[in-house]
Amino acid sequence: MEIRSATFVTSNTSVMQCPAPDRHEYAFIGRSNVGKSSLINMLTNRSKLAKTSSTPGKTQLINHFLINDEWYIVDLPGYGYVKSSKVLRAQFSALIRDYILRRKNMVCLFVLVDSRHEPREIDLEFMAWLGENGVPFAIVFTKADKLTALACQECVAAYEKVMLEQWESMPKTFLTSAESRLGREELLAYLDELNRTVDKFW
Ligand code: GTP
Ligand code: MG
Repeated sequence: MEIRSATFVTSNTSVMQCPAPDRHEYAFIGRSNVGKSSLINMLTNRSKLAKTSSTPGKTQLINHFLINDEWYIVDLPGYGYVKSSKVLRAQFSALIRDYILRRKNMVCLFVLVDSRHEPREIDLEFMAWLGENGVPFAIVFTKADKLTALACQECVAAYEKVMLEQWESMPKTFLTSAESRLGREELLAYLDELNRTVDKFW
């Protein structure tokens, strides 16, 4: 899919203030600093569309970007450095939870995890919560440029092993790098496929 245009629409502090849900949208989420905003810039070919920072917690609002005048990409705040899964529910920002549960035009949530780390409880718990709530999601491994191809494969395999203990099958997964642009074509092709599928029901 070609990205012909990508424009910032709004930043909001609540799901109620988001643009009217009259177009489908795809949101990007994950721990702070995992590379959500950088991935959005890589996908859209716009280096400064979404604000990035080496300091965690840069994105604090729900940011809508209109793509090709047709659909939205949404940059969400990270879910922070909560260490224990037990506190996830308590500390998990109401903003993110509300957005995920109430935004009916959100077709797929892309959950970003850092390729360099072993599967982490907070991410696994978060995905389990998505499953419990019937939220469609895909996993995007980020920062693959920081690892060898073999180490990347091992990271994906480690996630598969842990997740398949709880899930019948794996969600769709993508290996990406905002630096090398790895995974861009695959992700855009998947978005295109989803766009075509939802268009039939919209
Ligand atoms: P918050 O908005 O704070 O939750 O962070 P975020 O998930 O949006 O991360 P962001 O895109 O701001 O990137 C965080 C840091 O990681 C920045 O210093 C980026 O330059 C760096 N980074 C992001 N993606 C990549 C990547 O693919 N490769 C490398 N090497 N660095 C990356
Ligand atoms: Mg961000």
